[in-house]
Amino acid sequence: MSGARFSADWLQQREPFDTAARDEAARHLQLAARLHAMAPPAGTPWRVIDLGCGTGANQRWLAPRLGGPQQWLVVDHDAALLHGWPSSASGPGFEVASVCRQLDLARHLDTLPWHAAHLVTASALLDLVSADWLQRLVSHAVAARAAMLFTLNVDGHHEWDPADPLDSTVDRLFAQHQRRDKGFGPALGAAAVPALRRALQGSGYRVFSAASDWRIHSLESAHAGALQHALIDGIAHAACEQEPAALAALEAWRQRRHAQAASGRLRVGHVDLLALG
Ligand SMILES: C[S@@+](CC[C@H](N)C(=O)[O-])C[C@H]1O[C@@H](n2cnc3c(N)ncnc32)[C@H](O)[C@@H]1O
Repeated sequence: MSGARFSADWLQQREPFDTAARDEAARHLQLAARLHAMAPPAGTPWRVIDLGCGTGANQRWLAPRLGGPQQWLVVDHDAALLHGWPSSASGPGFEVASVCRQLDLARHLDTLPWHAAHLVTASALLDLVSADWLQRLVSHAVAARAAMLFTLNVDGHHEWDPADPLDSTVDRLFAQHQRRDKGFGPALGAAAVPALRRALQGSGYRVFSAASDWRIHSLESAHAGALQHALIDGIAHAACEQEPAALAALEAWRQRRHAQAASGRLRVGHVDLLALG
């Protein structure tokens, strides 16, 4: 498998923060009401394609909100993440049947059954992809007149409290690192949502968006503290890879951040986007 890898532990660690962020965005998007208005006729299941599905966080959040019978095609290139996906799931008011497909989306996007989809969705994927690939994805979904829901797209904003003099340098290097090729060509990083809006122009789709920021307050829970420590290490590592000559300054930033993390706050900016044909 080539391209970006994400551990199941990391996906599990971020899921509660994703859930809180998505709940807030969904209220602003009036997501439940708008999806209900698009629902397939009674007796017809929702047919959903989930791109870069990981271990299923997107389905766990979305399926109860879609409601009713649902057929999901869930796609990822990482067999380890797909291993153990349940073929069915249910809860109050919804019932899901899932088919897993291990596929490199960078190379085989065109092979998916677009014509059958009512809804195309992905969470935390679009920062990895290129503008060309995103345009192809949108073209397939628009040709099928499928709804699109793309959640947890980074917008490049990190708000640290307390602030540190090196924050803006670290943010700049991290943003540059996010633009590296993740297997799809030059990655969009924080430019994914503006590129998505451009790709949707002229499609006749109505586009709605809302902030889905992570709000990580270490004093609120041990999970928040652990996520903040993991992000500090991940951001510092990427920044060092981007500018090895700045290693000493970046290591000092990392240590200051860890020392403050027990009571620190961090907001990581994201945007959720819903497009309806
Ligand atoms: C940040 S994770 C998000 C996972 C999941 N959607 C979630 O919200 O927890 C990005 C996902 O995209 C998948 N991915 C990355 N590159 C891929 C590719 N070329 N083809 C298919 N899946 C890919 C990764 O394996 C990973 O599961």
